[in-house]
Amino acid sequence: MIIVKKLKQRFDLEIDNIATDKSISHRCAIFSLLSDKPSIIKNYLRGEDTMNSLKIAELLGAKIEDNGEFIKITPPKKLKEPFEILDCGNSGTAIRIYSGLLAGIDGFFVLTGDKYLRKRPMKRVSNPLRDIGAKIDGRENGNLAPLSIRGGKLKSFNYESKISSAQVKSAMILAGLNGDSKSIYKEPTLSRDHTERMLKGMGAELYSTIEDNKVTIEITPLKRPLEPLELEVPTDPSSAFFFAVAATISKSKVILKNLTLNPTRIEAFKILEKMGAKIEYILKEDKYEPIGDIIVQGDSLRGVEVTENISWLIDEIPALAMAMAVAEGRSVVKNGKELRVKESDRIKATVSNLERCGIKTEEFEDGFAVIGGTPKFAEIESFGDHRIVMSFAILGILSGVKIEETDSVLTSFPNFVKILKNITEVEE
Ligand code: S3P
Repeated sequence: MIIVKKLKQRFDLEIDNIATDKSISHRCAIFSLLSDKPSIIKNYLRGEDTMNSLKIAELLGAKIEDNGEFIKITPPKKLKEPFEILDCGNSGTAIRIYSGLLAGIDGFFVLTGDKYLRKRPMKRVSNPLRDIGAKIDGRENGNLAPLSIRGGKLKSFNYESKISSAQVKSAMILAGLNGDSKSIYKEPTLSRDHTERMLKGMGAELYSTIEDNKVTIEITPLKRPLEPLELEVPTDPSSAFFFAVAATISKSKVILKNLTLNPTRIEAFKILEKMGAKIEYILKEDKYEPIGDIIVQGDSLRGVEVTENISWLIDEIPALAMAMAVAEGRSVVKNGKELRVKESDRIKATVSNLERCGIKTEEFEDGFAVIGGTPKFAEIESFGDHRIVMSFAILGILSGVKIEETDSVLTSFPNFVKILKNITEVEE
């Protein structure tokens, strides 16, 4: 339980201990299994989701050594058939990307997760994987975890996904690397592209083109193990974004350090800019990803329409809605049907909690509208979703909030409350 008290004064802060990137950390654990040499990962996210991915790598035969400074992942010569079921906890990324990997590995695997993950759709990966020869089953004909996978030889494919999902794309790329000849994967618009960047960096033959926004990736099967990863995981822009919103709505200033500035990940900052915040991006290095600082200075906000690049915003929309709640006029989010199948139904969770805070909203099948106003103290329902908890905790710096369930925050951002306490009083 937390009670966030109203902010007493504006802040001017530099924050350098925001959680490191969840997407990149998962991929470090999973992709290190494609090499025959140890990978060295600095700043691996020590959140529940990503620690589960690491544990799964271990159950598949990897040796994990964590000296506090970096994690060394030594892959096995051949992935082991695990003795236990593979528990992905709350993570859609882990279950879907591991499904793509394990579908091409000789052996029997069972993947499951917590009560929230077991409700989320898996046919987006199980169907295309079945089509290329994987034997996958689960409740509702393979749509719901637990999923059982009998992996083996996979056929090559030419698959066009209807949704822009980095999880599906990553699963299919891994399946394609295990295929018998070249495969093609297409998505309607570019989803986050860490998988392509990291695997190319490890020596995989992936060739991507973009035409009229549509992405085509040609995948050449692996002839030999990939080079290992040597990587320092940057700050997670989706986690940092909560404090960008905090600065924006309170007309304060924040410097967020060492984020990935990958364009597929910082779109929400661009929307805040459109709403009236002043934002600077300072590029510092560029290895697998562009990395740098973001400086946010809050100002008066106006309503905004968000209808494009939704896959680049999908994790930040609840936090953006907090800025919309205090902006002048009406804001709209459309084309966001995917929000309904995240860690919670984020359209319902956002709208119903904003209403509790006295903010007028409208709910659509694929989004919502928010009429900016003055939020009031409310008790928030978390729906077990870390991003709902953190978004409303941030709104709490203006209105005060009480949130009963906050454990979900541990999945992605374990020191969130500690950092929030630098801004305002929080009772635990
Ligand atoms: C992720 C992809 C996104 C995102 C999730 C992380 C990833 O999901 O919402 O938090 O690391 O690939 P989808 O690919 O399902 O859109």
